[in-house]
Amino acid sequence: MNLNNDIKKILVTNEQIEARCKELGEQIDIDYEDKKPILLSLLRGSIPFVTTLSKYISIPIEFDYMKVSSYHGGTSSTGNVAVTILPASKLEGRHLIIVEDIVDTGFTLSTVVKILKTYKPASIEVASLLDKPSMRKVDDLDIKYVGFIVPAEFVVGFGLDYNELYRQLPYVGVLKEEVYTKK
Ligand code: IMP
Repeated sequence: MNLNNDIKKILVTNEQIEARCKELGEQIDIDYEDKKPILLSLLRGSIPFVTTLSKYISIPIEFDYMKVSSYHGGTSSTGNVAVTILPASKLEGRHLIIVEDIVDTGFTLSTVVKILKTYKPASIEVASLLDKPSMRKVDDLDIKYVGFIVPAEFVVGFGLDYNELYRQLPYVGVLKEEVYTKK
């Protein structure tokens, strides 16, 4: 079985992801000079993105992680967001950059931001590899660093999964419908 055969079309190639991460990394260098931000990645989908993005950041940064889930195996958001705070770092007074794989309805991020604010960080910004603005259901979200805008289709690869599979694909693609309609 080859997971690449389940992909209908590639939306963002690996070369495009690398080039965009370089641009975002250079912008973060400028915006956070002397601030030593914490890249707070939302597990598990943002790991390939944070790994690639951080290669292009040259200022001092720290890494931390939070566990978040909302889909529970389906292909549309339930708005039912479960958040587990894992950060080992003290967040008070720190500059946080939340690193996310995709912002869809926005429920996940707005929940995470609300929780993180209670830790009294110095600032909170968001970096997301993908943004699906046409799906947004919350309107108070500001995503400072966006990799790519994608249409309202279910996508996999570069960290994004369908039923925990496809995360390792080096590109972002759309799954063939028959993959999630067959049981
Ligand atoms: P939101 O709360 O609706 O913004 O959804 C955010 C989370 O849903 C993301 O972190 C992903 O884990 C998941 N998600 C949203 N859209 C997709 C998709 O197209 N493919 C895979 N996962 C997705």
